[in-house]
Amino acid sequence: MRKPFIGGNWKMNTDSKSAVELAKSVVQKCGPMPGKVDICICPPFVYLPAVKNALGSSNISLGAQDVYFESKGAFTGEISCQMLKDIGCKDVIIGHSERRHVLGETDELINKKLLAAIDAGLLPIFCVGELLEQRKAGKTEQIVKEQVQKGLKGITVEKAKAVTIAYEPVWAIGTGINASPQQAQEVHLMIRQLIAAMYNKDFAGQIRIQYGGSVKPDNAAELIAQADVDGFLVGGASLKADDFAAIVKAAAER
Ligand code: 13P
Repeated sequence: MRKPFIGGNWKMNTDSKSAVELAKSVVQKCGPMPGKVDICICPPFVYLPAVKNALGSSNISLGAQDVYFESKGAFTGEISCQMLKDIGCKDVIIGHSERRHVLGETDELINKKLLAAIDAGLLPIFCVGELLEQRKAGKTEQIVKEQVQKGLKGITVEKAKAVTIAYEPVWAIGTGINASPQQAQEVHLMIRQLIAAMYNKDFAGQIRIQYGGSVKPDNAAELIAQADVDGFLVGGASLKADDFAAIVKAAAER
């Protein structure tokens, strides 16, 4: 059975004081649930070292929200995989919908970032998901398939073992309208079947697929009850330690 994996994506929120307080609170509330679920929190870049320190010896891991694929040089404003490793990051979100649709990231760029992150020993959370108009036009499967295929292009099965996929329908992100458990399960199963076709059945049974988009304490249990939902990537609710802990608990009690 796949161990649930819950990520907290803080996005562009908190400040130096509240980031540390939130991290400490998450450790206190989620700490007693080790073993049953993997947990990571992803603060803004500038607070990563302080949050790392706040996480102390807990088994909650530290993740970044993005990374650049080049290892060093003249790339003003960018952060390399090696820099993330250097300060103790284990996980990294790649291809989040806000990077795709607000910052204009392409599948090709996301593919380069995934390859670089894996080669550097980071564990990518690779995000995919359709826009509302694409769902309405019946294109969900086509869009998500394309994102998965292009994102994982040239990545061998050995390398793909580092990857967690996060299905985040864009219409569900920050809207309070989560995908129904059935809608999530349908896409998760489709992704798993695609992974089986791209790699093999064994690996498809191992790869974890998180759901993201308005996950809250009151919908987490029914979403995690779905056969192919292996955890969550949580935005808004990860900014409240009680809510995040309630979501982690729902996954731990699955
Ligand atoms: P919300 O949980 O705020 O909808 O955000 C989801 C998300 O984008 C996580 O990466």
